[in-house]
Amino acid sequence: MEADDGVRPPAAFRERANLRTDPRGRFADGWPGAWDEAGDLLDWFDPYDAVLAGEGEEPPFDWFAGGRLNASHECLDRHVAERKNHLALRWEGHHGETRSYTYLDLYREVNAFAAGLRELGVAEDDVVTLYMPVVPELVVAMLACARLGAPHSVVFAGFSADALAARMERADSRYLVTCDGYYRRGDAINQKRRADNARLAVDHDLTATVVVDRLDGDRTDGGRRGDGHRSYDALVAAHEGSELAPVAREAGDVLFLSYTSGTTGEPKSVAHTTGGYLAHVAWTARNVLDIKPSDTYWCSADIGWITGHSYIVYGPLALGTTTTLYEGTADHPEKDRIFSIIERNAVDVFYTAPTAIRSFMKWGPEYPANHDLSSLRLLGTVGKPIDERAWRWYYEHVGGGDCPVVDTWWQTETGAILVSTLPGVDAMKPGSAGPPLPGIDAAVVDSDGTERPPGEAGLLAIRSPWPGMPRELAAATDWGADAAAGDDWWYLAGDEAVVDDDGYVRVIGRADDALHVGGRRVGTGEIERAVVGVEGVAETAVVGVDRPAGDTAVHAYVTPEARRADDDRLREAVVGAVEDAIGPMVAPERVVFTPRLPKTRSGKIMRRLLEDIANGEEYGDISALRNPEVVGELESGGAGSDGGDVSDR
Ligand code: WTA
Repeated sequence: MEADDGVRPPAAFRERANLRTDPRGRFADGWPGAWDEAGDLLDWFDPYDAVLAGEGEEPPFDWFAGGRLNASHECLDRHVAERKNHLALRWEGHHGETRSYTYLDLYREVNAFAAGLRELGVAEDDVVTLYMPVVPELVVAMLACARLGAPHSVVFAGFSADALAARMERADSRYLVTCDGYYRRGDAINQKRRADNARLAVDHDLTATVVVDRLDGDRTDGGRRGDGHRSYDALVAAHEGSELAPVAREAGDVLFLSYTSGTTGEPKSVAHTTGGYLAHVAWTARNVLDIKPSDTYWCSADIGWITGHSYIVYGPLALGTTTTLYEGTADHPEKDRIFSIIERNAVDVFYTAPTAIRSFMKWGPEYPANHDLSSLRLLGTVGKPIDERAWRWYYEHVGGGDCPVVDTWWQTETGAILVSTLPGVDAMKPGSAGPPLPGIDAAVVDSDGTERPPGEAGLLAIRSPWPGMPRELAAATDWGADAAAGDDWWYLAGDEAVVDDDGYVRVIGRADDALHVGGRRVGTGEIERAVVGVEGVAETAVVGVDRPAGDTAVHAYVTPEARRADDDRLREAVVGAVEDAIGPMVAPERVVFTPRLPKTRSGKIMRRLLEDIANGEEYGDISALRNPEVVGELESGGAGSDGGDVSDR
C-alpha cells in the first residue's frame, strides 16, 4: 500500500467515472429522499409518491410507494426507442460458439416468448421456474416473465432433481422452462431427465413445461420431448412479431424469488421487489461498477445466483450496456479461457469472485500475461473476503496496475451492493471492502447491538432499510433474530467484520464459522486470511477439530500455487503466519495440502464437509458439492492418517 490512506484510483479513471464527487453528504442530509437519484435511473409508468413511505421509521418499508413500472420495459423498451441496434448481449458457449442479440433482437424474442407463456396460461403473479445454464434463452425467459408480472425463480442448472422439486413445491410453481441438456467440461449433460424426475417428485401438477433445444445434434434422449412439453423454438416461432404490453407492477410487487447459497443451513428463499430492487441495482451498477452504455461488461457469475440476476441481467440491461454471458468454466479447454474472452470482446469492466482470482493465482501469471487485457477499465470482486495478496495479484496481473478494484460486499438477502468503495471517489484499501455506500447505515456491533470500537471484530449489522431489501425484510416477518423491529430496526447479516478508523469495513467471514480455540473466539476467516497471505498458498479453508474438555484444534487445508516451496517449508510458513497474526494458541495443529477444496455449486468452500472429514464424522448432505471427487482425495489425507498429504505436484 502506498500509504495508510490507501491506493488512489488512477486519474485517468477518475476523470471519466460516472460518479466523480462524493454523494455521501447528500445522502446523510437527505436520507431517505436522496435515493430519488436511484429512482431517477428508471422510467416509471406512474411516478412514486414517496421515496420511502413513512420515512423509514419502522416496518413495513415501502420503497417508491405508489410508483408503477415494469422491469422488462426498463431493460428493453426504453433502449429500443433510442438505440435499437446496440448490442444487448453477447454469449459465448462452452465450445466457443457465439451469439449476439441487439436490444431489438432481445425485445422481439422476449415479446414472442412472453406471448407464448401467456398462451400456456401464465398470468400475473404465477411463479415460473427457470432451470437452465447460462444461455441467452434464460435471459429471454427472465425478461418475458417480468413483462407478464410473473415472478421467476431461477434454479441453478447444476442442482439435482430433488433440489429443483423442493424449490418448485415451496413456491407452488406450475410452470417450468428448462433445456434438453448442456455441456460441462466437454460432456453433454442430460438436463431434461433431471427436470422430468423433478416433475414426478413435485406434489402439485405442472401446467406446462417448455424445453430449450441447447444440444442440437447431441441429444442425450434421442430427441424425444415427451408429453406435455412444448419446444421453446416452436413457441417463439408461433408468436413471432407479437408485441405484448408490459404489465404495470407496483414498486413493491415481486420481480423474482431467489435462494441463499446455504453454505451453513437450509437455503432460505427471498422475494425481491420490482421498484426498490431495480433502482438499487441500477444505481450500484452505474456508480460502483461504473457501467456505461457504450461498455462491454462481463460478470462471470452464473445467472442462477443473485450476482447473476443483479449484475449480469437487471443492472447492466437497465443501463443499456452490452452484457457478456459465458456458459463454460474458467479452465476449459485451457486455463486462459477467461482472459481470452476479455481480449476477444475487449471487455471494459470485469466482475468475478475471489475464488476465481485464487484459481488464477494458482495457475500462474503467464495466463493473463499472454493476452491483451488493455481494454479493462475497472475490476470487481464479490462473494468472499479477498485478502491483500489476491487483491494485489488481480490489480497487477489482470488490471495492469491501472484499473480500480471494487471489493463489493452484499448478499442474496440485500439484493444489491451495500458496502464498497466508489471507484471514482474513494481510495482503495486492499483487503477492506470499503465504507458503506451512501445511504447505507452499516455498523459492526455486539450481540446486544452495541457498536464495537474501530479495530474490534463484531457482527455486521445494517441499521436502516435500503431500496434493494427483499419483501420479507421490508415486512419484518419470518426473519427471527436476524431482523429486529421496533425503535431500533436492524438486520444482522450473519457476517463478522471490523471497521477501521476511516470507516472502512473489513469482512472476516460468516459469524457461524467462528471457532473457540484456547478459550478465545476466533473467526476461521481471520485465520484463513493469515494463511493465504503466505507466498505459495493459493487457497485455504480452516476448520476446528474437537478436543476433549471443549477445546478446539485448528486444521488448515491448503491448496498450494503451481510453483512453490517444498511442503515442509510451506507448512512452517503457514504455522508461523498464523502465530504472528493471531497468536501461538491458534497455530494449526495440522496443515493438509490438497490440490482442490470442496466447493458448492456457487463456488463457496464447503467448510462443513471439511469439518466432518477432520473430525472423522459422517458427512451431512453434500448434494450441493460441485467436485465430489475431492472427498476421496481428502479422506486419504484426513485427520485420521499422519503425513498422508494430498498434493498435485
Ligand atoms: C460473503 C453473494 C467478504 C458474505 C452476492 C456474505 C463477502 C455472503 C463479500 C453472501 C465481500 C459477499 N467480502 N465477504 N466483498 N461479498 N461475501 O448470498 O459472507 O451468495 O454474507 O451473495 O458472501 O453470499 P450470497
